[in-house]
Amino acid sequence: MSHLDAELQEIRAYYGRTLTGKRDLRTNACCCRESVPTPYQSILSMIDGEILDRFYGCGSPIPPALEGCTVLDLGCGSGRDAYLISALVGPRGKVIGVDMTEEQLQVARRHQHAQALRFGYAWPNTDFRQGFIEDLAALGIADNSIDVVVSNCVINLSPAQPRVFTEIFRVLKPGGELLCADVFADRRLPARLREDPELRAECLGGAMYVEDLRRLLRDTGWPDYRVVSRSRISIGNPTLENRVAPARFWSIKLRAFKLPSLEDICEDYGQAVTYLGTIPDHPQRFALDDHHTFLTGRPMRVCGNTATMVGETRLARHFNVEGDRSCHFGRFDCGCAPEGVESCGCC
Ligand SMILES: C[S@@+](CC[C@H](N)C(=O)[O-])C[C@H]1O[C@@H](n2cnc3c(N)ncnc32)[C@H](O)[C@@H]1O
Repeated sequence: MSHLDAELQEIRAYYGRTLTGKRDLRTNACCCRESVPTPYQSILSMIDGEILDRFYGCGSPIPPALEGCTVLDLGCGSGRDAYLISALVGPRGKVIGVDMTEEQLQVARRHQHAQALRFGYAWPNTDFRQGFIEDLAALGIADNSIDVVVSNCVINLSPAQPRVFTEIFRVLKPGGELLCADVFADRRLPARLREDPELRAECLGGAMYVEDLRRLLRDTGWPDYRVVSRSRISIGNPTLENRVAPARFWSIKLRAFKLPSLEDICEDYGQAVTYLGTIPDHPQRFALDDHHTFLTGRPMRVCGNTATMVGETRLARHFNVEGDRSCHFGRFDCGCAPEGVESCGCC
């Protein structure tokens, strides 16, 4: 067994056998502190309690404008997000959930038909596949085949994080979106923490330094990603808090679009965009990230990257984009989010 396999086996044993529900977690790192947005609470209430009890996410990466989309949930676990999203993609869309842990998938699969019925579908629009997020090709997931990839508190667990991001980039369609919530650190963790089995399994040991995340995304093909929200992880276990101190951890929700024309900093082409108020459940405003909230009907000056993100993706029919890149006015100051770890993507 290779080193990589041994680490994956440990994680699989943790999520398959050590944990039987939320109460077995040793820290609050994989306990979602971001509640599901209000419009989706009614969907959440239709999801079986057994699925919810084995939910170990650190956020709520529920993308907007999903009707008809094919969504891939990496490390879907017992399927909370996959089912929530299955209600949003509608009968013409589909959700593929990937997880390596049999026990987690058993829960997800057990409810497939009942959940479909609850959402009013004649047939399940979910498909749960057992395998590794580092090798999606082995699961038959083709290049350029996925509209949106979501992931909730999983990529930190991978011993090969660059490979995971490369796979995500490969399977996304041009214009496709990655929306993930994960645990990140304010520094590179020393080997003694990275190799600590308990810290790894609890989503802390594998937390990537945010600036290394930025570099990795840039090198993979995402020169600009956006932080949607972030919150500090308190850990909630004094022994483990001492072990990791003084490192600080954050749950960050980020989005990145597969768009070849994105640049590594914000540039001013004199463009403005107006949100039309047509994304389901977002009649008054739409927040692209933590410093771009578009009010319905109100034009907003944006950089070239932001114009491309809303104008050349599935969001395009919900926006009016004025101007193109024919005239350049220099660097654009998008401004960063006020507080938190240093990186806020490129914008
Ligand atoms: C912290 S749980 C989160 C599960 C789910 N996203 C949720 O929000 O409930 C991590 C999940 O990722 C899965 N996982 C971890 N590493 C994986 C890998 N390399 N390939 C596939 N699944 C993986 C585990 O089996 C586990 O179900």
